Amino acid sequence: MKILPRSAFGQTILLIGFLLLINQVVSLVSIMVYIVQPQSDQVDQLLAKQVRVVFLDVKDPILTPAMAKAFHLETGIGIYTEEDAMPLGLADATYFEFRSSIMTDLLGGPAEVRISQGDEFLFWIRPPQAPNYWVKIPLTGLEEANYSPLIIVLMILGALSVIGGWLFVRQLNRPLKSLQSAAHDVGRGDFPEPLAERGTTEIVAVTQAFNHMSKGIKQLEDDRNLLMAGISHDLRTPLTRIRLATEMMSKQDEFLKEGIDGDIDDMNTIIDQFIDYIRHDSKDKAELDDLNVLLSESVQSESIVDRNITLNAQPLVKIPLRYVAMKRVVANLIQNAIRYSDGDIEINTGMEASGRFAYFAVCDSGPGIPEADIERLFQPFTQGDKARGTEGSGLGLAIIKRIVDTHGGRILLTNRTEGGLSAKVLLPISH
Ligand SMILES: Nc1ncnc2c1ncn2[C@@H]1O[C@H](COP(=O)(O)OP(=O)(O)OP(=O)(O)O)[C@@H](O)[C@H]1O
Ligand SMILES: [Mg+2]
Repeated sequence: MKILPRSAFGQTILLIGFLLLINQVVSLVSIMVYIVQPQSDQVDQLLAKQVRVVFLDVKDPILTPAMAKAFHLETGIGIYTEEDAMPLGLADATYFEFRSSIMTDLLGGPAEVRISQGDEFLFWIRPPQAPNYWVKIPLTGLEEANYSPLIIVLMILGALSVIGGWLFVRQLNRPLKSLQSAAHDVGRGDFPEPLAERGTTEIVAVTQAFNHMSKGIKQLEDDRNLLMAGISHDLRTPLTRIRLATEMMSKQDEFLKEGIDGDIDDMNTIIDQFIDYIRHDSKDKAELDDLNVLLSESVQSESIVDRNITLNAQPLVKIPLRYVAMKRVVANLIQNAIRYSDGDIEINTGMEASGRFAYFAVCDSGPGIPEADIERLFQPFTQGDKARGTEGSGLGLAIIKRIVDTHGGRILLTNRTEGGLSAKVLLPISH
């Protein structure tokens, strides 16, 4: 069903157009049947009567000339031979078969009707009484009807219907539009103010349901954040206490102490990652900033002694960035590159061809990720096979994706043809 329009506007216009068409056809048929046809029958009968009258006097040789003249003067009706009739308009007259057959019935013998439209509207009838003659009957008021006002009225009617439909649908769609953008916001983790409940009852009902849902999700998220923050906080206190306890362990247990310290560090890092993941960053508002500056700061703070990290920066326009959160993205990507590859690390920046996105890509020359695993690794707590038993919680990519989503951007992991992984983050120039 591709031919039918899918938008409410298209469908409304189609419906209005269809109804208008039916309306016009019905009106036209009614006018034909109840007005035009009876009138035309009457005209035919009158014409037949006139023809009969004309031939009344023909039968009376005394009355003929005077009567015919007076009759002609009063009515314009005359009898002509074909030869005389030709220059008077018969030559241009059109033959009407239907009218001819009606006239044949009415006059009781074969008759022919022609109509010419010169200065006057003329009926030419060849009567059965005198097949060599033509009777000319002028009729005023039957001039070709002037249709242009009708067409203009119809066009105005059509245009008004389309404009009316457009206004109606626009009115109907406006609350839907704000509903759509609010739903996008909620999807990104932003919670907009409750939407104004306006529009038709159905849309008000949907808006109310949406507001209710958005409030519910926010409540859930707040509860979860509180819970996680509580757990993380409460875990830190015993961890600190254990660390203190290890300080007091005897020298013989040094190796044990180191193991415990290592575990405590791991747990602290995991707790930090946890907090990062749930933190909503809503207080960190997006502001126009230079991505290249952010990247060079991150490269500096993430650099470690034996690894080269190069930043190939192309000039970029300023884009809306949640600075702290985006730094976390870059830091996580660099840490992954350091952890899962050995060679140099390269970071490229630039503008996407469409001009709507700025991007940066962190490229390493490690083993990369099997194509089939890429989607899965964005889930929290999932790690690749090579990472089993190593440090890390499998939250890094999930955090990255979440932050990139809140920016309205995208992250693409691809294996480079020359080997290694390229993690490309596309960020929109404007929201
Ligand atoms: N540059 C990379 N090269 C190869 N594999 C990678 C790379 N980056 C990530 N991976 C794979 O993706 C998995 C998920 O990465 P992610 O950053 O989410 O978690 P993690 O690094 O294991 O732990 P965390 O980042 O939470 O400390 C990793 O376990 C690893 O197998
Ligand atoms: Mg990681």
